[in-house]
Amino acid sequence: MGRLENKTAMITGAARGIGRTFAEAYAKEGARVALCDIDLERAEASAEAIGHGAFAVQMDVTDQASIDAAVASVVATAGGLDILINNAAVFDLAPIVEITRESYDRLFAINVAGTLFTLQAAAKAMIAQGRGGRIINMASQAGRRGEPLVAVYCATKAAVISLTQSAGLNLIEHGIHVNAIAPGVVDGEHWDGVDALFAKYENRPRGEKKRLVGEAVPYGRMGTAEDLVGMAVFLASDESEYIVAQTYNVDGGNWMS
Ligand SMILES: NC(=O)c1ccc[n+]([C@@H]2O[C@H](COP(=O)([O-])OP(=O)(O)OC[C@H]3O[C@@H](n4cnc5c(N)ncnc54)[C@H](O)[C@@H]3O)[C@@H](O)[C@H]2O)c1
Repeated sequence: MGRLENKTAMITGAARGIGRTFAEAYAKEGARVALCDIDLERAEASAEAIGHGAFAVQMDVTDQASIDAAVASVVATAGGLDILINNAAVFDLAPIVEITRESYDRLFAINVAGTLFTLQAAAKAMIAQGRGGRIINMASQAGRRGEPLVAVYCATKAAVISLTQSAGLNLIEHGIHVNAIAPGVVDGEHWDGVDALFAKYENRPRGEKKRLVGEAVPYGRMGTAEDLVGMAVFLASDESEYIVAQTYNVDGGNWMS
């Protein structure tokens, strides 16, 4: 028997990367999973590949009507909502003097407001059901300290850690557990984009930054999405009952706090 049997989970940004891997892992643990993403076509392909009743939902986390419709659609399709992973996020990089308002507004709209208002909509549905729930926010080691070229993304992830604390403390009275995972450097399409930006701003050949960050991890390599699955399943399961408002580093030893 899976550890998430009879649970319904919605995962934002699940068309690819870490969210997709979490969706597959949750489905294998018995959950009915909704892969919510702005890229519906890719979310549908991922849901079909995963099977186990997984389904795709179109969702833009910057749009309140889209958030509300996605939560309603998950509840209607799967008969409830037990677990939310706030995973959708975007990255950008620039020296302080080159940061644009457009980049700032986009990152805060997706990474921070998207996390808060999806969490809020899911919490309302969970409170109405009256059987508690689990909310997992995707933070980052970037939220633990600033980086010279990554001011805005780091600030969004620090905000996610703070929101996890406040929401965790506020919602536990309803039996809703809000916690977060702070990954380090996780290989995949996301980091291919990050590497390309570092290549531009640090004048490096493509692939060099990725190699260097991997070598710098105490464990000895970059992470994979699979490295995060154990924590994601644990925080969604009944085994994490006494855990509230925490952010866990899963980063091969990069950060200690
Ligand atoms: N990859 C890493 O090294 C790393 C490290 C630390 C934290 N994280 C965090 O983990 C999470 C997943 O990262 P990833 O590497 O899988 O990223 P990714 O870029 O591969 O996937 C992000 C997904 O979010 C979707 N998305 C973007 N904007 C959206 C919107 N407005 N509404 C709905 N969906 C939207 C994209 O279509 C994509 O499918 C993110 O929160 C990221 O910040 C990643």
